[in-house]
Amino acid sequence: ALAVGTVSAIGALLVAGSALAADPLMDRARDLFKPLPASIPVVKDNAVTREKIDLGKMLFFEPRLSASGIFSCNSCHNLGLGGVDGLETSVGHGWQKGPRNSPTVLNAVLNVAQFWDGRAEDLKAQAKGPIQAGVEMNSTPDRVMAVLTSIPTYKTKFADAFPNEKNPVSFDNVAKAIEAFEATLTTPAAPFDQFLEGKADALNDQQKAGLALFMDKGCSACHNGVNIGGQDYFPFGVIEKPGADILPPGDKGRFAVTKTADDEYVFRSPTLRNVALTAPYFHSGKVWDLRQAVAVMGSSQLGAKLNETEIDQITAFLHSLTGQQPRVEYPILPASLPTTPQPML
Ligand code: HEM
Ligand code: HEM
Repeated sequence: ALAVGTVSAIGALLVAGSALAADPLMDRARDLFKPLPASIPVVKDNAVTREKIDLGKMLFFEPRLSASGIFSCNSCHNLGLGGVDGLETSVGHGWQKGPRNSPTVLNAVLNVAQFWDGRAEDLKAQAKGPIQAGVEMNSTPDRVMAVLTSIPTYKTKFADAFPNEKNPVSFDNVAKAIEAFEATLTTPAAPFDQFLEGKADALNDQQKAGLALFMDKGCSACHNGVNIGGQDYFPFGVIEKPGADILPPGDKGRFAVTKTADDEYVFRSPTLRNVALTAPYFHSGKVWDLRQAVAVMGSSQLGAKLNETEIDQITAFLHSLTGQQPRVEYPILPASLPTTPQPML
């Protein structure tokens, strides 16, 4: 019995030893990236409660927030499609085509600011935009209030979500409830997260080679941290400006926000989490193939012409950033009443 015990003790030591063995790739990656926590992130000035999340989910799927009664947040940020619409640029009210590609709402809570140009400070500031944008939902705060106050279930839900407030049904609270729901839309446990947490075989050899290139070539200078991007602004075309087909000259990005010449064609580097699910790529939505997006980044941001093998490896690594998609049960929305404003097409 003693001999057996000794053998298994040595076995345990060997296993522990191999888990601790230096893994330089993992160590380097851990310096630059963080795994996505499984818990709901804390949101500034908006305590995330169960009641707010429930209400926010209804509002996220609520087409009556749009003038036509057709568009909900989910129309352009489809939670069954990686939080995007899969279009070059979004289509909204009156079949109008908007100017930009719809970014994913998945993990958006972890971005430094919202929109391609960062013009909204956070998700609650962001949510008021599309409801009123003429090319998106084309509604007004007054109309939204008229819709919601005409439906008793909503009055109750707002009172539950915002207890002790005198006027719980407000446009501000619409935005706060949506923000609370969006805070739940994180995608933990991607193969890359498992790798960062110590599971060496969570990435295959091709993905490991891609990760090494992603760091060696300098992609990680702009796409890093817990969201693998989303934290800072950079010129699209630091080294070489992409052609007008990919970077249309009319959209100067962050310049519209700061009015600083240095910010012409500057955009927030997007999160690369779930990027394999969110084609087409770039704010213009002009690139449909992730391999091509990688090649464009190489030449435009790094002045590097990546060869086919390198592009394949980096692309394989990007596929390891697809996490567990949020399981969202479609909400049952309360019926309109005769007093509810009618759709305006
Ligand atoms: C951007 C949420 C409705 C199209 C965003 C972002 C969020 C978001 C969080 C920023 C993501 C990021 O920067 O990483 C919502 C919510 C909506 C809504 C909560 C409902 C209230 C819509 C609709 C459309 C749409 C109906 C399409 C008609 C877009 C587009 C952008 C965007 C094109 C990028 C705009 C830019 O950067 O200038 N949305 N969205 N969204 N959304 Fe929505
Ligand atoms: C966009 C990957 C290097 C800044 C993107 C996208 C991908 C990507 C796939 C499109 C994401 C989407 O549309 O959702 C890479 C790879 C790189 C790299 C693989 C290394 C080869 C860089 C560097 C910078 C940077 C070094 C900063 C100097 C940006 C910006 C965008 C972007 C600003 C948004 C461009 C726009 O649409 O306006 N990156 N990236 N990237 N990346 Fe990179």
